[in-house]
Amino acid sequence: MRIAVMASGRGSNLQALIDSMEKGELCAEIVAVLSNKEDALALERARKHGIKDYFIPPERYPDRETYDMAVGDILEKINVDLICLAGFMRILSEKFVNRFHNRIINIHPSLLPAFPGLNAQKQALDYGVKYTGCTVHFVDAGVDTGPIIAQRVVPVYDDDTVESLSARILEQEHRLYPQVVRLIAQGRVVLQGRKVRILKEEVR
Ligand code: GRF
Repeated sequence: MRIAVMASGRGSNLQALIDSMEKGELCAEIVAVLSNKEDALALERARKHGIKDYFIPPERYPDRETYDMAVGDILEKINVDLICLAGFMRILSEKFVNRFHNRIINIHPSLLPAFPGLNAQKQALDYGVKYTGCTVHFVDAGVDTGPIIAQRVVPVYDDDTVESLSARILEQEHRLYPQVVRLIAQGRVVLQGRKVRILKEEVR
């Protein structure tokens, strides 16, 4: 299975996917990393590991749909089976989501449907929940609303700051994302309506 990762920043989830691939555990190949930010650390990580990197500057396109069209053309040209969003800080147009129907997944730092959108860790702290976590889900046209594939839970402590909580969640993100990609690559993730079933046996 050929994967592209889209990231705007630090790329620690990308790194977790790369590490898993290099250990032979991902069952998939990361063939490209795309970013809307030229200085994204994610692009540097890609280059360091011999993965093709693409910087696609939004300013060069008149609107979101045209930009997404250009990104989509690259993804089709390099023939990717799965697109993993990993801290990609742009909303994707409905057209893009439909073009790659059920082939885009995202990782989000909360237990969705709680705390979608930006600053999920701060939202959780402000709300006062005792547990939060991370979610990997299929991407639909809404913001963090697609079918949930898998989640991991972490406790929230009284003395947590956004930083301490984010770090605790991130640790679990780095475990969860490669696991989910592996499950998809093994054909074990089945979508039924908005519910996702994980098959026990690998399907080839
Ligand atoms: C992660 O917290 C992820 O859940 C969210 O954006 C952050 C990206 O971090 N979507 P990184 O760039 O992978 O380090």
